[in-house]
Amino acid sequence: MHNLVAVIMAAGKGTRMKSKLPKVMHSLAGKSLIEHVLETVNQVGIERPLVIVGHGREEIESRISERAELVIQTEQLGTGHAVMQALPYFDDAQTVLILSGDQPLLKAQTLQTLIELHEAQGVSATVLTATMDQPFGYGRVIKNGEFVVKIAEEKDATVEQRQIHEINTGTYCFKGSALKEALVKITTQNAQGEYYLTEVFDVLLKLGEKVLAYCTPDSNEALGINSRAQLAEAEAILRVRILDHWMAEGVTLVDPSSTFIDGDVQIQQDVTILPFTRLMGKTRIEEDSVIGPQTSLDNCLVGRGSEVTYTVAKDALIGERCHIGPFAYLRPGTKLEAEVKVGDFVEIKNSWIEMGSKVPHLSYIGDTHVGKSVNIGAGTITCNYDGVNKHPTKIGDHAFIGSNTNLVAPVEVGEHAITGAGSTITKNVPASALAVERSPQVIKERWHKKNMK
Ligand code: UD1
Ligand code: MG
Repeated sequence: MHNLVAVIMAAGKGTRMKSKLPKVMHSLAGKSLIEHVLETVNQVGIERPLVIVGHGREEIESRISERAELVIQTEQLGTGHAVMQALPYFDDAQTVLILSGDQPLLKAQTLQTLIELHEAQGVSATVLTATMDQPFGYGRVIKNGEFVVKIAEEKDATVEQRQIHEINTGTYCFKGSALKEALVKITTQNAQGEYYLTEVFDVLLKLGEKVLAYCTPDSNEALGINSRAQLAEAEAILRVRILDHWMAEGVTLVDPSSTFIDGDVQIQQDVTILPFTRLMGKTRIEEDSVIGPQTSLDNCLVGRGSEVTYTVAKDALIGERCHIGPFAYLRPGTKLEAEVKVGDFVEIKNSWIEMGSKVPHLSYIGDTHVGKSVNIGAGTITCNYDGVNKHPTKIGDHAFIGSNTNLVAPVEVGEHAITGAGSTITKNVPASALAVERSPQVIKERWHKKNMK
């Protein structure tokens, strides 16, 4: 594969998206469009493709600069002009693979077949094509037998050419020498006044060169994202691919139509996902866990055999055999060891809770280290913020925190210590002690009779 160079065109503005964001930075199943294309290219063995950037280049650069060689196209004068910027980066003997940053559904297997076919046939170029029921907007592929003679863009095509359903996907293989020779001869004589990459086929034909087409059987792969509607269409197609994949791997999806799983999520066998659940980022769910219904996990780890119900969590680690929810909110930096219970209306942030501890109801635990087998009573609040700084709380193993305790940080509660219900704890509680902070209860006998006349 050393003789292979990949060029990904990603400098266009994406006018039809009507967005501040450069088109290829729009997100699909949790990753930007350009990242999908980069991954596909990686899968055929190309580690550092060239990416042509221009519009919104800083944003693209900050996301992918470690994975690609960036080439700047200062003015976006068309796809042909984009590839011209890459001329100094390949030589005659190389095979040049050209892709569009806005075509994220292309599969690595298809790319591999395209490369193999191109190299086996020894032609100047091979175009990846697809047959579309609705070819509107795409370049139409005009052939003579099996060879491509022209690609006519929608805006330049004749009425007859527009009847053709075989379209140009925007992915090609070229002999380096042929591409070099043809690129310098293209013009801007077309409906959009741009340098069309597709004009190289007219040039190659005149030079007597042969261009093949390889038509992918899955036309979904050709979907180019130019509008928000096409973005949604791609999301729907990719979503079904991802869901089918996990069901084939032994994951139960009770209602695929209400389940959303990002491309980088990992799920082990015998996990059950209940309806209205969304798994995002690099979330990983281990064996026998049950997630949902109505749960949203972003970049979380859920250990084996845990249950997570009606919960929202981000950047949280949930150990094995935990019970989370209903209605729990786990924020970044939450780390729960095995057999932890986090119940209803509990929020946890930047806290480490050790094995077997329970926060069953109505609590806020922030910047806290909770030891093993601790029970935290309903309504307990760690008062971690003084208006300027955040402070830590530490609760030792086997401590028992009474209901409605306020723990005013920084504060420590020792092992086996107990706090009385309703106490506001401002001083450290030694191990095994009881801390009660409460006014003594006053009883006034027969008060009702005397005062309520
Ligand atoms: C292009 C093809 C069309 C094909 C379609 C497939 C041309 C002339 N047409 O049309 O035949 O059916 O893709 O999706 O090539 N870009 C640059 N610099 C530029 C212009 C574009 O880098 O100056 C990049 C864009 O960012 C995009 C890609 O090239 O990622 C394709 O450009 P786009 O404008 O979407 O081309 P289409 O009109 O879709
Ligand atoms: Mg396009």
